[in-house]
Amino acid sequence: MNVTAVLLAAGQGTRMKSDLPKMLHPICGKPMLAHSLAAAMQASEESPVVILGHEADQVRASISGDVRFVIQDQQLGTGHAVVQAESLLKGKTDYVLVIYGDMPLLQASTLRRLVETQKSNRGPMTMLTVIADDPRSFGRVMRNADGTVAAIIEEYIATPEQLNVKELNAGAYCFKADWLWNALHRIKVSPKGEYYLTDTAELAVRDGLTIQAVVCTDIAETIGINTRLDLADAESAMRARINRGHMLNGVTIMNPDVTYIEADVKIGKDTVILPNTTIQGNTIIGERNKIGPNSHIRDSKIGSDCAVFMSVMEGAVLEDDVDIGPFARLRRGAHLAKHVHMGNFGEVKDSYLGEGVKMGHFSYIGNATIGANTNIGAGTITCNFDGVNKNPTEIGEDVFIGSDTMLVAPLKIGDRAKTGAGAIVTKDVPADMLAVGMPARAIKKLERKTENTKDKSEMKE
Ligand code: UD1
Ligand code: CA
Repeated sequence: MNVTAVLLAAGQGTRMKSDLPKMLHPICGKPMLAHSLAAAMQASEESPVVILGHEADQVRASISGDVRFVIQDQQLGTGHAVVQAESLLKGKTDYVLVIYGDMPLLQASTLRRLVETQKSNRGPMTMLTVIADDPRSFGRVMRNADGTVAAIIEEYIATPEQLNVKELNAGAYCFKADWLWNALHRIKVSPKGEYYLTDTAELAVRDGLTIQAVVCTDIAETIGINTRLDLADAESAMRARINRGHMLNGVTIMNPDVTYIEADVKIGKDTVILPNTTIQGNTIIGERNKIGPNSHIRDSKIGSDCAVFMSVMEGAVLEDDVDIGPFARLRRGAHLAKHVHMGNFGEVKDSYLGEGVKMGHFSYIGNATIGANTNIGAGTITCNFDGVNKNPTEIGEDVFIGSDTMLVAPLKIGDRAKTGAGAIVTKDVPADMLAVGMPARAIKKLERKTENTKDKSEMKE
């Protein structure tokens, strides 16, 4: 007995007062539709059908995976929307799971409960309801004296007595397909000129059939987004759910109310997230890191045992045991190898900093590769842009770049070379060479330290 999910996503979302189609408003980093679609895909094996209408192309472009689309040319109501899937699904599915696309918090487990309840009953439909004090303009669920569902009454036509009913129609249903296809054509147009899916309840009762209702006990799951107020409620409920998941997995979040982690982020155990930290996109964070406070991380990869203190990372990679900040900025393509130390007011873009590189203060490194254990002095700048092209800088291992050095790219600095403070380096510096001045001239060949002399000099200090 197969089940196919149909997601309703054709509506304009007028109450959002937005140029962006409602379905594309993000919740924790993903369009709201993507959340309910993911739940639908977990709850049913068949590829789901999404009903598109308003800005169909734009909404379709936001969706990937094994999904089928049907267009509802005119948005004549939720019942009319489901009819659009009939020719595609009639005779191909035993049950139809209808989900409104504006319910991003809905969980796959709840959808499965709907399906199981429907499968184990003889009635034609099972609906999801919720009992709440705030009606959110939802349809009210009318019950008969014996507790069976009698009807769903939309708020704007409800009597004062009906308005007091606390059981609401959440917006997810499992139907017996044969009965549904027939019932949809029996729905009468509403005073607002729409065909309401909710009228199927009354039709079932008139057919002498019983409707099952699954009551959802988690109100947050049934948030339906009609206005920006609902959007904010959904965002905060989703945020709480995501943070809770990480905490149960062994991540410490000092203050979950001010920690903003998007849906796809992965975090290893014993990592500590300090307040006012935002972690977005496709970010993967390992174990035992200390992230934040006041940090912003997007599409980045962080190994283990790192510290990211009041810093910004976008499209960047930290290997293990790296510490950055406060006020470090890693842009796209920044890759800091193991044990790198990057202190305050630095910016790195499209560059590789080799193992153990130290870059303590006020530097810009762009389009550069830096060898292991090199020291980047305070105020060092790679002058990578000549007004037309971005040029590369290659710095070897164990190099000492003096404070305030300007490295005018393209440029190569050999292993163990040194630059003097304030040097403006316009020509390549060979290995073991000291370069000083403006522009810097190579002035003397440096003696290579053997291990012995190194020890002695350290003893003198
Ligand atoms: C609907 C229910 C209401 C329920 C509430 C829960 C109806 C008539 N009312 O009201 O009982 O309590 O959801 O959130 O069903 N859509 C289409 N095509 C259309 C119209 C709507 O695809 O022609 C889609 C919308 O994009 C949306 C969903 O269906 O995702 C629900 O439509 P919406 O207008 O938001 O219904 P509500 O007024 O919230
Ligand atoms: Ca709605």
